[in-house]
Amino acid sequence: MDGMGAMAQGASTHIPVMRDEVLAGLAVRADGRYFDGTFGRGGHTRAILDRLDTGGRLLLMDRDADAIAEAQHAFAHEPRVSIYHGNFADAGDWNEVRDLDGALLDLGVSSPQLDDPERGFSFQHDAPLDMRMDRGSGISAADFLQSADEREIADVLWRYGEERMSRRIARAIVAQRAQFPIQSTRELAELVEHTIGRRERNKHPATRTFQALRIHVNDELGSLQRGLRAIAAALKPGGRLAVISFHSLEDRIVKNFIRGEMPVPARRGLPRGLPLPQTLHSPLRAIGRAQFPSGAEIAANPRARSAVLRIAEKISLEAGG
Ligand SMILES: C[S@@+](CC[C@H](N)C(=O)[O-])C[C@H]1O[C@@H](n2cnc3c(N)ncnc32)[C@H](O)[C@@H]1O
Repeated sequence: MDGMGAMAQGASTHIPVMRDEVLAGLAVRADGRYFDGTFGRGGHTRAILDRLDTGGRLLLMDRDADAIAEAQHAFAHEPRVSIYHGNFADAGDWNEVRDLDGALLDLGVSSPQLDDPERGFSFQHDAPLDMRMDRGSGISAADFLQSADEREIADVLWRYGEERMSRRIARAIVAQRAQFPIQSTRELAELVEHTIGRRERNKHPATRTFQALRIHVNDELGSLQRGLRAIAAALKPGGRLAVISFHSLEDRIVKNFIRGEMPVPARRGLPRGLPLPQTLHSPLRAIGRAQFPSGAEIAANPRARSAVLRIAEKISLEAGG
């Protein structure tokens, strides 16, 4: 399963992906104001904080209540840190998220989320089929599979999992749930394996199905689009954005956003057919090309293997950006 995030096995250890590249990309200033929208277990947060002096500020956010509990415990007496439980898509609602010198999104799920059987993210453990990062909102993967129609399930598997057997799997799910609801990760993994067989060596046949359901249940791509807009608006001119993606659907959104190929909502209300030079509409410019983890990092932390890091800088539109 991709998008596994930064940490090694076990809740107590964590290895932030491409930490040095992130710090270099953000060009952290000691008295700067930084936003970490995906705290996880705080590997990147701590690395940024280490570079701040008493005038610096770090605003951190996560939609997972366990991650926020960890942050509250770790930074209870740290005056430079503010903590917020929520979706980074709504970062603009948080008054402190403004005049940022830098912002980081390290997308996907964390190792504690993956490794906790209760969360239902992984077919490696038998568990209730939940997959929500924020268990206080939205519907679980089991509820989605129970209530969606066959076409919608197939669309989700195709769009977010790039699963070529999406229709066949959706048909099998609907047939199965007529007998009894699919409630556990193992039931779903076995159903998919039974339906499409083992096609790829070293990859469980349910990998794409699990990725697709996770992306859908958490509205990961919609959150990313809204989050990028909110963060770009909150950066100062010259402020830096660093985003680590773990699959091509995310990376495409990040790349297009930086290039100024804004998704449809940004164009709403404009006359149809109006020719819009794309670059005029990007508040950002790319700093360098996409970066990837080194072989040594992947060897030390296999969960880093599909990471792609992009860095961008806020431009001043008045200055002709
Ligand atoms: C890969 S981990 C981050 C690891 C972190 N950088 C570290 O070094 O410990 C991703 C985290 O982002 C959170 N997350 C994912 N999407 C989010 C969103 N839209 N809003 C807020 N948090 C999100 C997840 O709950 C998870 O804790």
